[in-house]
Amino acid sequence: MLWYTSIIWLIFLGFIDMTSTLLVQRPEWQALQAHLEQIKTQQLRDWFAADAQRFERFSLRCGGLLFDYSKNRITAETLALLVRLAQASQLSAKIEALFSAEPLNLTEARPALHMALRDPQQTALWVNDKNVRLLVQAALAKMSYFVNALRQGEWRGATGKTIRDIVNIGIGGSHLGPLMSTHALAAVSDSPLRFHFIADVDERALQEVWTQLDPERTLFIVSSKSFTTLETVVNAKRCQQWLGEKLGQASLQPHFVAVTAQKARAEAFGIPEEQIFPIWDWVGGRYSIWSAIGLPLALQLGMDGFHAFLQGAAEADRHFREADLPHNIPVIMGMLGIWYANFFEAPTQAIIPYAYSLKYLRSYLQQLDMESNGKRITRAGGEANYATGPRIWGELGIHGQHAFHQLLHQGRHLVPVDFILVGRQGGQAFEAHQDLLIANALSQAQALMQGKEAAAFVQELCTQGLSVAQAETLAKHKEIPGNRPSSILFMDQLTPQNLGFLLACYEHKIFVQSVIWDVNPFDQWGVELGKALLPSVLEGLEHPAANTHQDASTQSLIAHYKALKQSL
Ligand code: F6P
Repeated sequence: MLWYTSIIWLIFLGFIDMTSTLLVQRPEWQALQAHLEQIKTQQLRDWFAADAQRFERFSLRCGGLLFDYSKNRITAETLALLVRLAQASQLSAKIEALFSAEPLNLTEARPALHMALRDPQQTALWVNDKNVRLLVQAALAKMSYFVNALRQGEWRGATGKTIRDIVNIGIGGSHLGPLMSTHALAAVSDSPLRFHFIADVDERALQEVWTQLDPERTLFIVSSKSFTTLETVVNAKRCQQWLGEKLGQASLQPHFVAVTAQKARAEAFGIPEEQIFPIWDWVGGRYSIWSAIGLPLALQLGMDGFHAFLQGAAEADRHFREADLPHNIPVIMGMLGIWYANFFEAPTQAIIPYAYSLKYLRSYLQQLDMESNGKRITRAGGEANYATGPRIWGELGIHGQHAFHQLLHQGRHLVPVDFILVGRQGGQAFEAHQDLLIANALSQAQALMQGKEAAAFVQELCTQGLSVAQAETLAKHKEIPGNRPSSILFMDQLTPQNLGFLLACYEHKIFVQSVIWDVNPFDQWGVELGKALLPSVLEGLEHPAANTHQDASTQSLIAHYKALKQSL
């Protein structure tokens, strides 16, 4: 009896988490399971044929985005059941908690407040006795002063020349956001500035950028929330050394600025306080493009354009907070992901843009999603006994359809796809092939959905002169099963505002899923162990006699590399 009472107490005090097992036992979960059995053999093409209103029923429009989710394996009942699961997981209350600065990042005891970076509201929002609104306003004012000075040619290099080349040194969230967004919006920018990115600690990556630069006209932005990330610190020092050799070590000041939450470390690196832009611990690295980490984008667009980017995201925030669950784009995106990951047991999600401007979107979303929901421990410390964060992969569709779309159409795996389309990528100059891009995207989505039955192939092959037996054999290989789900996220135009809206929708989709899976999307402890092991492995590589107590495989590979170094 004593053990029984103790367990009840432990559960009550939250030391033993029952949520993980409770989730799959919830009636709402079980109802979805039963519903899957009813619909899993039904065909999307039949649903379309039977319901002329299917597109209207399963599409939403907000903020320059059309979200068509009609080609998903859902009926009105599926949607209602998914919404019920979201309600049972207290999703609306959790959304409110997120926006109200509750410390949802419980393992680091802090709120996640990236939305405050784009929220025009003035009402005070307190974190650690500091009004977040004032911090954000001051940071934007500092950015604005710098951006205007640089773009107007008032901020000059040591030899008096204006700046032309901007080099962002950073990695992960301090790299992917600036890279993705400056590439995405290059076509709508009139800036003559040229943007370069150094993330990789590979000499070749550095050389590739350096050869394009005019040292006298180059500005380096050292972007690191922690200012301890080895890759960034090593690269920043190399760039400092490189520029010092060209211009003299005493001339570097106007050529380096930093974005960090650790001002003292940036100062120790040699950057004066006036040239350090802040970020705070309540902004996660992968959610930081809205902060001064977005400085390259602000330099590219000017502050008006950067504000439009923030406004787009703020519109998505309002929509997420205010729209009821069945008409809420991030909620539907998130719940569709739950439907596939947990019920269809589809562990991956493809992101396939049909716009060259969105070349880096998949990489950006990969970090955003996988570093957020790549977790298996629930908020109260239990182990999830259900699938969590999906593997995000993909490529520009024009390339994908000549590479991996084969697997999407005929492979054994069910891969839900997000096709990202834009009506216009920039001015008229970029319109020549736009129809072709859109047509490709729409036909891929249509082919995935409707497929083509073997009987149709048999008929075609027989008219080409094959015998029925030959035609039937070949038709098996040619048959496209269809019933493969996809959503279309169609932006009217690729503008700063619409890009902001789209990215914020993905952030919130990830949050929705974290609520259902009951994991903390705002920490990333999984990346720490590799970082911690690095010094002793490096020691083993660099010092001939180092005994670094590695496992047999690592030790042998170290020896192999050392021998290679000597022989090459
Ligand atoms: O390695 C993971 C990570 O901590 C990411 O979460 C982050 O975006 C990246 O490293 C860069 O970190 P920092 O901005 O502190 O250099």
